[in-house]
Amino acid sequence: MTILSSALSPSLPAAGDAGHAAELLARCRTLVRPALAEAVGRLHPWVGEMAAYSFGWCEPGGAPVSGPAGGKGLRQALAVLGAEAAGAPRDAGVTAAVAVELVHTFSLLHDDIMDGDPTRRGRPTAWKAYGTGPAVLAGDALFALAVRTLAATPGTDIPSAVRHLSTALDDLVRGQADDLLFETRPWTGPGAVRPDEYRAMAEHKTGALLGCAAALGAVLAGAPAGTVATLDRAGRHLGVAFQVVDDLLGIWGDPAVTGKPVHADLLRGKKTFPVLAALGTPAAGPLARLLDSGGPLDEAAARHAAVLVEESGGREAAVAEADRHIAAVHACLADLAPAPRTTDDLRALLDFLVRREW
Ligand code: IPE
Ligand code: IPE
Ligand code: MG
Ligand code: MG
Repeated sequence: MTILSSALSPSLPAAGDAGHAAELLARCRTLVRPALAEAVGRLHPWVGEMAAYSFGWCEPGGAPVSGPAGGKGLRQALAVLGAEAAGAPRDAGVTAAVAVELVHTFSLLHDDIMDGDPTRRGRPTAWKAYGTGPAVLAGDALFALAVRTLAATPGTDIPSAVRHLSTALDDLVRGQADDLLFETRPWTGPGAVRPDEYRAMAEHKTGALLGCAAALGAVLAGAPAGTVATLDRAGRHLGVAFQVVDDLLGIWGDPAVTGKPVHADLLRGKKTFPVLAALGTPAAGPLARLLDSGGPLDEAAARHAAVLVEESGGREAAVAEADRHIAAVHACLADLAPAPRTTDDLRALLDFLVRREW
């Protein structure tokens, strides 16, 4: 597979070993922020404020935020690095980054309503701060803005890019549907959710957008189909690993660090990987009895369930599952063979994403 020379590298200074991933995320955020802010600036002012609040740029009411806030910026970094790996021009990476960050934030606005979660990124969720109707509308606006961003980029393969994004969106909705339906399925017995069903759900709800992020710059630039497919596959595997780690943080993470509630998944009966893996072990008896005892868990029962999941080996199995998907990402990278510095950046990002605490 031919990889063209990188058009991004000259403008992106190399990060040192310490904090390599943090620096990489920060420099991609700096690179993408002007185009993202310009896009958000086109929204209706009230909707734009809700979007800016969700990005961590302002307080409710519009006052600017003083300290650092917002998300990790994984998808924009992946878009920048994916474009770089395919030798796409820098602008294609930035356009792709803007589109996927908009879609990501849209999906979070709606996800927090679906999951009933009160906090994200260390602050009240948008539906808590502004109300459910306005938060739905802000999500819709970000979705529309993402499509418009792609459709208004001259000199690129717009039809292919829109096709690629809509496939990811279709999968994302599919994954969210299964995630919600799985809440109503039993923990054990013939109707229980199987690990392979979980993997498909996670690939859809989280992996599809990561695959799109990795591949979209290449699509915009008209890169060979094989390059696009490999980038997309890498992102999808990364998405499953990322979601499994998100599940781990939802049970054992520190809300002061993750900025999200802990045990919310257990309380809602979400079928997360550590619990499913624990239920598949010979030591699963006490956990199965607790989960099957009828009705939703309360906070004390959720804490006890977390202990039983760990004792049955579910935590360890989830880490191993994430590692398997990261190994698949590395195999894709070996196929692509990006420039050494892009490879180093991608490796640092992957290491950070599986070891992260937020
Ligand atoms: C949260 O994604 C949603 C999942 C797919 C697990 P992130 O953990 O990337 O959220 P932010 O953007 O950093 O807040
Ligand atoms: C992430 O769902 C997927 C989407 C937002 C599409 P989760 O519900 O697992 O993510 P968090 O934990 O709320 O961030
Ligand atoms: Mg959620
Ligand atoms: Mg959810």
